[in-house]
Amino acid sequence: MNIRSFRILPVVILAAAFSFAADLTGNWAVGNPGADGVTRKTYLDLKQEGSNITGHIRVSQFYYTVKESTPEGDGFTLKASLMDGHNERTVQYQVKLVGEELQVSNRRRADSPLNTVVAHRVPAGEGAYPARNPLPALHKVPYNGLAKTPPMGWNSWNKFAGRVDDAGVRAMADAMASNGMKEAGYTYINIDDTWEGERDAKGNITTNKKFPDMKALADYVHSKGLKLGIYSSPGPNTCAGYEGSYGHEEQDAKTYAAWGIDYLKYDWCSARNLYTDEEMQAVYQKMGDALQATGRPILYSLCQYGRADVWKWGPEVGGNAWRTTGDIKDTWESMTRIGFRQNDLAPWAAPGHWNDPDMLEIGNGHMTDTEYEVHMSLWSILAAPLLAGNDLREMAPSILAILTNREVIAINQDKAGKQGQRAWQSGDQEIWIRDLDGGGKAVAVFNRGAEKADVKVKWADLKMQAPASGRDLWAHKDVAFQGDSLVTSIPSHGVVMWSVK
Ligand code: GLA
Repeated sequence: MNIRSFRILPVVILAAAFSFAADLTGNWAVGNPGADGVTRKTYLDLKQEGSNITGHIRVSQFYYTVKESTPEGDGFTLKASLMDGHNERTVQYQVKLVGEELQVSNRRRADSPLNTVVAHRVPAGEGAYPARNPLPALHKVPYNGLAKTPPMGWNSWNKFAGRVDDAGVRAMADAMASNGMKEAGYTYINIDDTWEGERDAKGNITTNKKFPDMKALADYVHSKGLKLGIYSSPGPNTCAGYEGSYGHEEQDAKTYAAWGIDYLKYDWCSARNLYTDEEMQAVYQKMGDALQATGRPILYSLCQYGRADVWKWGPEVGGNAWRTTGDIKDTWESMTRIGFRQNDLAPWAAPGHWNDPDMLEIGNGHMTDTEYEVHMSLWSILAAPLLAGNDLREMAPSILAILTNREVIAINQDKAGKQGQRAWQSGDQEIWIRDLDGGGKAVAVFNRGAEKADVKVKWADLKMQAPASGRDLWAHKDVAFQGDSLVTSIPSHGVVMWSVK
């Protein structure tokens, strides 16, 4: 090495360091208005020192902290994470400066294609995460007198997700009021996530373009003899990244009451960025109090995926129902994994306060009618809310028959409000029993196996007196029983359900 190159080397190193120094530091944002008029921006607030990048990435309901930056090609790979309850969630982004733009790439899942968007500089502070609000001391929110039996209705999410709109909701109300569902007990028409607009200058929540007039919509639903439900989050953003109720709890409750809302599903979502699971009770209590303060009876449905033993404190915060699981999917695997796992929660269900293993998928197309009968039977044995999640306008008669099977609904709505439990299991076959008001029992014999099965039902195994007769709730026939046991044939992924006395 000669003297000349000795001189050049530090200059090259300096230049490299300098070229890093000027670049990625800044507040970057990406996001355009959607068809509903709402802009949901992703923010990358980054600080670069040499090859080290720190900062935050705010996307939808998540607020990540950059934990690791690795130079790669002419950009960086950023690893960021957040603590979600007791679990760490991590994401990875590739970022690259191209002129005055930041190219941001990531994969939704490890096996999905790389998605690239272009972020631009925005003023410092835009999109900054709000500070953590203090929480109230715990107290008991008085029971609102609602949901003496499990709520019944319809919810937009499973079928429509972000496509729910005013016309669709009216059409569901029309269908429910005219197809026999209303007479069978279905009452609530619930709008899930994606109805939200921005807040106005006074901080009032508005609706987005899909819902031009929420009060008029509520009036319409009420005119059909039905009730209207809505959705929000205790965090700054809902799960789909729309405006949540954070810091506006009382104001939002008042707005809902003024609109004529009858039901609120309150979904944890971005509250995970501000509060721990141990603080959930106080967070939910805030909205429980706010709803009570409106003076309007609003059914309060907690959605925090069954974390923090919610069944132990759900009634304390004024909750009428609480989700016990993550999101259901329209598959046999998802529905049965959730439904058959509810056994231990039975003691926590009671009139006014229900375990909620998530909404129905009946009629959404990825299970057979026999499997949907299992869904309806199991949710009825479990005293679970019956919230249809399909398109009520275009339902096969067989699906309508499942949703409106009044004999099964009578089990779900039994006024004693005792959640059923597993009484017997052998491999893929299970028998669940629910004690009914007046001393009767509902007995459901499930076959989760891939082949049809002959199940021997021995009453003594179920700790029951042998009944002489009963009612087959799917065949709609009285049945006579003889002796201490009987053999019943159940199709694959099927159920036989009786009420006996
Ligand atoms: C969460 C809930 C779902 C639905 C979506 C909406 O995933 O668990 O039931 O409300 O949010 O974004």
